[in-house]
Amino acid sequence: MATLRLGDTAPNFQQDSSEGQIDFYEWAGDSWVVFFSHPADFTPVCTTELGKTAALASEFAKRRVKPIAVSVDSLESHGKWVPDINDTQNTTVNFPILADADRKVATLYDMIHPKALVNATVRSVFIIDPKKTIRTTFTYPASTGRNFDEILRVIDSLQLTDSHKVATPANWRDGDDVVILPSLQDPTELAQRFPKGFNAVRPYLRVTPQPNK
Ligand code: BEZ
Repeated sequence: MATLRLGDTAPNFQQDSSEGQIDFYEWAGDSWVVFFSHPADFTPVCTTELGKTAALASEFAKRRVKPIAVSVDSLESHGKWVPDINDTQNTTVNFPILADADRKVATLYDMIHPKALVNATVRSVFIIDPKKTIRTTFTYPASTGRNFDEILRVIDSLQLTDSHKVATPANWRDGDDVVILPSLQDPTELAQRFPKGFNAVRPYLRVTPQPNK
């Protein structure tokens, strides 16, 4: 299957999950989605990742984002593992984990990279917007747990730049200064959109306070 790229429509699927049978589009509704794979249940890094996702529930909800995880383990395995995650990570897993034992979803989203990890999903992440467009992808190896604060940071950037003619610079965090899109040149529109003004460090590098703060 072709690699899914930014701007592609996230394919729909139906699969079993720890919260029952899921039709992805129906489940997602008009929320943003963070869809991520992990290699296997009852493994240390995955346990911390799913625990961290659960602990960040209010941060995801604040941004209208629903998390959903997948691995090629069975429903029975997920059912036994979730209490372990809750216990060891001091949290409550409150999002579905797809039981993709037949690899239907992992194959659809190209989450199995056999040269890196045989017979299991690597650590893929898809950030999907309410129109089901894939807005961000990244892939980590099994040995490296992901930074879920970074996932939230990317969502903050996507949601901000969807509604303002700005982009977010390196290491930006919500509340920091942003840069004005080089395509915006009209002085009247610049004044309207950025009443606090901007610093033109170069003609193409114009720094301004975050407009929605
Ligand atoms: C882990 O989650 O700890 C893990 C899973 C597969 C390979 C290596 C580490």
